[in-house]
Amino acid sequence: MPLPPVAGNPFRPPRQRPRNSKAVPADVARLIQEIDALPGYSRFGRVTAVLGLMVEVGGIEKELSVGGRCIVETRDGRHVPCEVVGFRQGRAMLMPLGALDGVGLGCRALVADGQPSVFPCDAWLGRVVNALGEPVDGKGPLPKGPRGVPIRNAPPSAHSRARVGEKLDLGIRAINAFLTCCRGQRMGIFAGSGVGKSSVMSMLARFSAAEIAVIGLIGERGRELQEFITEDLGEEGLARSIVVCATSDEAPLMRRQAAYLTLSVAEYFRDEGRDVLCMMDSVTRFAMAQREIGLSAGEPPTTKGYPPTVFAELPRLLERAGPGVAGSGSITGLFTVLVEGDDHNEPIADAVRGILDGHIVLERQIGERGRYPAINILRSVSRTMPGCNTPMENELVTHARRLMSSYDNMAEMIRLGAYRKGSDPQVDEAIHYNPALETFLKQGKREATDLATSYSMLAAIFGIEEWPPQQQ
Ligand SMILES: Nc1ncnc2c1ncn2[C@@H]1O[C@H](COP(=O)(O)OP(=O)(O)OP(=O)(O)O)[C@@H](O)[C@H]1O
Ligand SMILES: [Mg+2]
Repeated sequence: MPLPPVAGNPFRPPRQRPRNSKAVPADVARLIQEIDALPGYSRFGRVTAVLGLMVEVGGIEKELSVGGRCIVETRDGRHVPCEVVGFRQGRAMLMPLGALDGVGLGCRALVADGQPSVFPCDAWLGRVVNALGEPVDGKGPLPKGPRGVPIRNAPPSAHSRARVGEKLDLGIRAINAFLTCCRGQRMGIFAGSGVGKSSVMSMLARFSAAEIAVIGLIGERGRELQEFITEDLGEEGLARSIVVCATSDEAPLMRRQAAYLTLSVAEYFRDEGRDVLCMMDSVTRFAMAQREIGLSAGEPPTTKGYPPTVFAELPRLLERAGPGVAGSGSITGLFTVLVEGDDHNEPIADAVRGILDGHIVLERQIGERGRYPAINILRSVSRTMPGCNTPMENELVTHARRLMSSYDNMAEMIRLGAYRKGSDPQVDEAIHYNPALETFLKQGKREATDLATSYSMLAAIFGIEEWPPQQQ
């Protein structure tokens, strides 16, 4: 019969403190406190079955709850951290955060206390961590921050949240001018595979004017990680970023946790009053990890095999980005979504679009034409944009959008040569401005354009030399 949990060791005599205990430095005192808080005994159960990704444990089911942690000891002495994902026939069902090799029947499963938290601080900037918050960049250990943020934190309550802030320069002129993003806004970047999501993300990471960037690389290719850090981010970009990564070969729980951890780190800096840019590539891989977890735990599959928890977890994750409570900082969220088979109505894309405050749609045909970033302006929207622009800016953008839409409607006819010049003055105007607008939207991966220049370049297309124009 396991003992009830108590703080500290009831059987250990009180430790004799040195007489001049005030002389102990603060971090040593904190360490002593943590050691004192460790329980003097451990509670453990035994592995009774292993099925696929699931480990069944008996003997401690009354001590565990969903989301709790256990450490399973393998036969060769390794420790595999696991999370409780459910209970079946009186046994706890655990999923591992690492490989299950070496786990067998009768292995010990120790109850780990407390809710998992992460302890970031400013010294984490420029570093790469895994889903457990451990450094993976070979630059030595990471200092522990002063305050822990739960990995599965809840978003601030809706009524206490501030409104989105002023405009944020993202460095890509198509986005700056047509899809302006505000501090604390959450945007999705939607595209099929290989259309340029990661490239857009790397441009945003390098060029955006945010003070701190927290970048989650969830379930992406291992090869891309080094490429992203050394080439896309570069030394300057990395110095103001923290990268959280879980590659596609890691356990589904690790991939899911990496997404949670990305937001926890962002939340720490937000609560410090900083404006954080939180980017995630990709939310689809997070949903896929949750699909693996849900199906293994015996949930029924629904559309495209996604179990119901996927659609419950998505808003819980994405809602954590956004403005903080009044007086704190904000988290501007940019999340990529892989749309399978270029079907923009597939369930994950649909669910994410409904939660976020805007979407940037990348289209394969545009990329094939050689215009990168392949953003389809007409199908993309930023829901906060009309409110944050001046009437003049809105007018300029609406005018350009109208011309693009006219061209798009007639594009097939124009290409076939079936359109006769002079039939419709609006289409004639659209044809006239189309090459200049296409050139405006095209932007190299190494070229940045700030907010003000984006607008003045767009205005120059229509012959307005001075932007913003002087008031009469
Ligand atoms: N701005 C750009 N300039 C030139 N080429 C680009 C640009 N953006 C993307 N590309 C081209 O598109 C290809 C795919 O881009 P990327 O890897 O970003 O796509 P992705 O959508 O992230 O793909 P996946 O779904 O496979 O992760 C790149 O290899 C590159 O050739
Ligand atoms: Mg990619």
